[in-house]
Amino acid sequence: MTSDIVKFVYQNKICEIKNPDPNETLLNYVRAKLKKTGTKEGCAEGGCGACTVVVGELIKNNISYKAINSCIAFVPSLEGKQLILVEDLTFKGELHPVQKAMVNYHGSQCGFCTPGFVMSLFAMYKNFYSYKEETIKDSIQGNLCRCTGYKPIVEAARSLNSDNKNDFFRKDKTITLSLLKKIKKRSIKIIHNNKKYFAPKSVNELNKILRSEPGSKLISGGTDVSLIVTKERKDINSLIYLNSIAELDYIKENNKYIEVGASTPLIKFESFAKKYFPDFSQILKRYGSVQIRNVCTIAGNIATASPIGDTLPLLLALDSKIIVKGKNKTKILSINGFFTNYRKTRLKKGQFIHSIRIPFLKKNIFKAYKISKRIDDDISSVCASFNMEINKNKIKKIRIAYGGMSNIPKRAFNCEKIFVNSFLSEKIISKAKRLLEKDFKPITDARATKKYRMEVAKNLLEKCFLEVKQKKSIRINV
Ligand SMILES: Cc1cc2nc3c(=O)[nH]c(=O)nc-3n(C[C@H](O)[C@H](O)[C@H](O)COP(=O)(O)OP(=O)(O)OC[C@H]3O[C@@H](n4cnc5c(N)ncnc54)[C@H](O)[C@@H]3O)c2cc1C
Ligand code: FES
Ligand code: FES
Repeated sequence: MTSDIVKFVYQNKICEIKNPDPNETLLNYVRAKLKKTGTKEGCAEGGCGACTVVVGELIKNNISYKAINSCIAFVPSLEGKQLILVEDLTFKGELHPVQKAMVNYHGSQCGFCTPGFVMSLFAMYKNFYSYKEETIKDSIQGNLCRCTGYKPIVEAARSLNSDNKNDFFRKDKTITLSLLKKIKKRSIKIIHNNKKYFAPKSVNELNKILRSEPGSKLISGGTDVSLIVTKERKDINSLIYLNSIAELDYIKENNKYIEVGASTPLIKFESFAKKYFPDFSQILKRYGSVQIRNVCTIAGNIATASPIGDTLPLLLALDSKIIVKGKNKTKILSINGFFTNYRKTRLKKGQFIHSIRIPFLKKNIFKAYKISKRIDDDISSVCASFNMEINKNKIKKIRIAYGGMSNIPKRAFNCEKIFVNSFLSEKIISKAKRLLEKDFKPITDARATKKYRMEVAKNLLEKCFLEVKQKKSIRINV
């Protein structure tokens, strides 16, 4: 059944929005229509966290709470979810434990950032039973404060360890669950003035919509697409939202590869990857913020073909495959060759990324590094990834890929060649570093100069082999 009414749970009631403007942001809706102005607008591009709200999603018989940036979420993405705003945390005049902690530990001065911090900490409070330092720092990595400083906020978060977690959201959970179940997510089709929005629930439906609306813009997490509206101030006339398609939200594995469905939130893959590719997981930990990773996808990152897309050099070095569907055909494309030019891919109109396959290379050593001006929530100046098979101190196979060094994320083919069937030696490493100059001609931009980028790329190569040497006890010949 298709509907043009977006239904969501708010303050334990089912709310409906008939035929909303598909380009309206959730932040705008909350402030201008719900008249709840506790949620603030700072940057309007997902970078400051002032607009953080929490959405509750039904997962089996439980609610998963996600902090998201309302400034870059479109209203129809609320379908089937629970919306929680900072105003909703106070119950009958009593502050929520997270709010009390912020007061007790002096976590606020001017107060502009405070609702956003409170909502990020509220999501942490609901999703974890104890709050380790790492959990606290991850939870607020997407929130900026220009005046209080982070120490009192972190102390407030730590103090929550002694709370009994019996807030009124827990007391009301049965009611909320029954309301979420009642909504039963439907397929959404909106035509608002000249703007169209589709949220299919299955791949079959998606294929049908793509056939009739081939010029539509696909949107998954929307962390890239939404900026067309909020920053470029343009309308998007036809959108197809993919993150309602449950059959695309999966991670499966066999003994050859891991397969990640296109609408799987990055945060899910971050914890999965820890076991098999710890360096991949470490890079994802520094990818945007929790608010971004709660919604964004690897498929979205690949489709942007951004030269500084962080998963891309890693997927290139891992020789990943992209499963592309559309027009009733399935194609398995290698990620090598998928990026054709600046922000261009081999995807054609009417096609979409269904999933990504990452091969298991059990004998291999996989390493990845991200260099950015800030540790958290910052875009790479250079990202490097190495995947090698070493046998008896000899490199048998190697793939090296860099982001931030070219107009597309790219393999370092000249550099790779020199390593194959070689013993590691200082001479080889020096030659390889020089060959990077043949592989890449980086540019100077706001993030880094071309000289800096090349120097960093060379240093990362050296760092990688020094670490490999230490780990594998390989002798590097002088
Ligand atoms: C504050 C902030 C921080 C960020 N930090 C980082 C970072 O650290 N590293 C990084 O690499 N990026 C970062 N990004 C960029 C962005 O979050 C990523 O590129 C993200 O992975 C995009 O995924 P998405 O699901 O949100 O894509 P969307 O915005 O939904 O879509 C992006 C593009 O992919 C297309 N698309 C989406 N899904 C599919 C599909 N299944 N098939 C075909 N095409 C599809 C869309 O049409 C669009 O062209 C950041 C963005 C913000 C706003
Ligand atoms: S307003 Fe800055 S993240 Fe939304
Ligand atoms: S209290 Fe002023 S910005 Fe954080």
